[in-house]
Amino acid sequence: MEQNRIPKHIAIIMDGNGRWAKKRFMPRTVGHKEGSETLKKIVTHCTKIGVKFLTVYAFSTENWKRSSTEVDALMLLFKLYLEKEKKTFMENDIRFMISGSRENISATLLKSMDSLIEETKENKTLTLNIAFNYGGRKEIVDGINKIISSGIKYITEEEMGGFLYNDIPDPELLIRTGGEFRISNFLLWQMAYSEICISDKLWPDFGVEDLDLAIEEYLSRDRRYGGVKDVE
Ligand code: IPE
Ligand code: IPE
Ligand code: MG
Repeated sequence: MEQNRIPKHIAIIMDGNGRWAKKRFMPRTVGHKEGSETLKKIVTHCTKIGVKFLTVYAFSTENWKRSSTEVDALMLLFKLYLEKEKKTFMENDIRFMISGSRENISATLLKSMDSLIEETKENKTLTLNIAFNYGGRKEIVDGINKIISSGIKYITEEEMGGFLYNDIPDPELLIRTGGEFRISNFLLWQMAYSEICISDKLWPDFGVEDLDLAIEEYLSRDRRYGGVKDVE
């Protein structure tokens, strides 16, 4: 792959865990557990191919609508993931970040998140940004409220990033697994010009070769940003 054209920031909607489990007559939570294994593989692969930022959608503000069994399992799984992956993050120079609201998240989970953010803050090879309790609309509204409470009267498009959860470059590539053609309230501000690749693979079946395929597809796209390439 052309190293210098590898997207700097890839965003992934990790969808299809429930269907993966259902196909095997297992509870949805088994699919989430398997999905967390996929995430580990993808994160390690990204450190090797030169991706600088990886944002993954792990829990949306709408996912609270699910059964309490599933929500509790997702909270617990996330906490275990953070505890277990700390070693990998340090060994592979991965900085950990969260994009999301702190509302309704337990104090113990917030503590795990905060300490991992602090401990990995000097790491530089890859930034793993987990969108957890994340909603694109909520991010924008939270940002507007920060602006109002700071008394600022006017901001530019460039300054808006500073009021979002994390001020990192926009993703060049968005991948959604599970075959659905929608955004589901992910990165509404940041995705203005992202290239979108939909994979039919369910997230637990998504492999590093599928990520490479999506990057190849991205590299073949003609990114015009509203302009024209060949002036007649
Ligand atoms: C994505 O998988 C993970 C979360 C939303 C937490 P789903 O749980 O949405 O799986 P499907 O879409 O029902 O198969
Ligand atoms: C999007 O998937 C959220 C995550 C992957 C965390 P959903 O399964 O919640 O989205 P919809 O319901 O298909 O739009
Ligand atoms: Mg889904």
